[in-house]
Amino acid sequence: MHMRHITKALAITAVAGLALTGCGRSDSTQDAAEAGDDAAASGFDASAVIGVSLPQKTSENWVLAENLFNDGLTEAGFQGDVQFANGGVAEQQNQIQAMVTKGAKVIVVGAIDGSQLGTQLAAAKESGATVIAYDRLLTNTEDVDYYVAFDNFKVGELQGQALLEGMEAKKKNGPYNIEIFAGSPDDNNAKVFFDGAMSVLQPKIDDGTLKVVSGQTSFEQAVTQGWKAENAQKRMDTLIAGSYSGKTAIDGVLSPNDTLARAIITSVKQAGKDIPVVTGQDSEVESVKSIMAGEQYSTINKDTRNLVEETIKMVQSLQKGEEPTVNDTDSYDNGVKTVPANLLEPVIVTKENAAEAYAGNETLEPLTQ
Ligand code: BGC
Repeated sequence: MHMRHITKALAITAVAGLALTGCGRSDSTQDAAEAGDDAAASGFDASAVIGVSLPQKTSENWVLAENLFNDGLTEAGFQGDVQFANGGVAEQQNQIQAMVTKGAKVIVVGAIDGSQLGTQLAAAKESGATVIAYDRLLTNTEDVDYYVAFDNFKVGELQGQALLEGMEAKKKNGPYNIEIFAGSPDDNNAKVFFDGAMSVLQPKIDDGTLKVVSGQTSFEQAVTQGWKAENAQKRMDTLIAGSYSGKTAIDGVLSPNDTLARAIITSVKQAGKDIPVVTGQDSEVESVKSIMAGEQYSTINKDTRNLVEETIKMVQSLQKGEEPTVNDTDSYDNGVKTVPANLLEPVIVTKENAAEAYAGNETLEPLTQ
């Protein structure tokens, strides 16, 4: 855990260094080609089976990914095999094993628990398939070739910054009373989001600008098992009862995503408190509405269409026997190897820039008018 933070910090330094010398891109492409080893050696049939194993539908992005993968893979000429593992880890293990048996040439995995798929990923590699970790890193295994995701650490940083800015806009000076929520500890992203946010918030906790009234500042204390709304709502109820009696105001809550943000807001409303500045992620329809109505403060735009499109481009490169595009070869140490990553840029969205951020998005743009 700590390692990943350090690795990320080094990566940022490295990127900054490369930017100064003006050769970041070519250097990292070259590293990537080396890091990708034999994954793209020979290509495969243009109508091959491509497996996509998705986790539980804990947020809208996963639901959107299903159709996008089905349509996109079909359009590209492949036979897509897109599965959800609503039943949990054992179901996901069985689904990946079944994809191997079907002869899938690429297996794209959005893991429930990225550390529990070692046996199935080894079988996938043994069969000659390429493994792409999608959105969530696959950990403690050699058997993952690439990672495609939005820059998770950046997501956390943007959330931390939005929380501060939102509170400053309401009340110029601190101290501000806040609470901190994190995602599900089995999802590798949860700690990366948390570390990104804390890189912004911790110095402000240390200098007294921010006061975590409950005292619960560790990842372990902040987690939300299964990314479940009911768990976040229950924890918020408990925090309010224990630390915000009487007139004590809650100025802000760091929420790692939209589903949990809405649960936190529900809890605050039920307690009869003023709604604090609450962050989010995913640009879910209900949260965009809430932002436009002045309740939730911010979300993150991680356009699922772009992530799926990038993934399919990577599959197409592999099909032709070419190296897929990656732009980061330093940040994602999975405990066994550093996985070459294709990272997309997340965008912070508040009421102020929503119309601009969702311009051209058929579902979200109309909500901003
Ligand atoms: C994704 C988030 C999502 C969360 C819960 C994370 O791995 O990156 O976008 O909100 O899972 O589904």
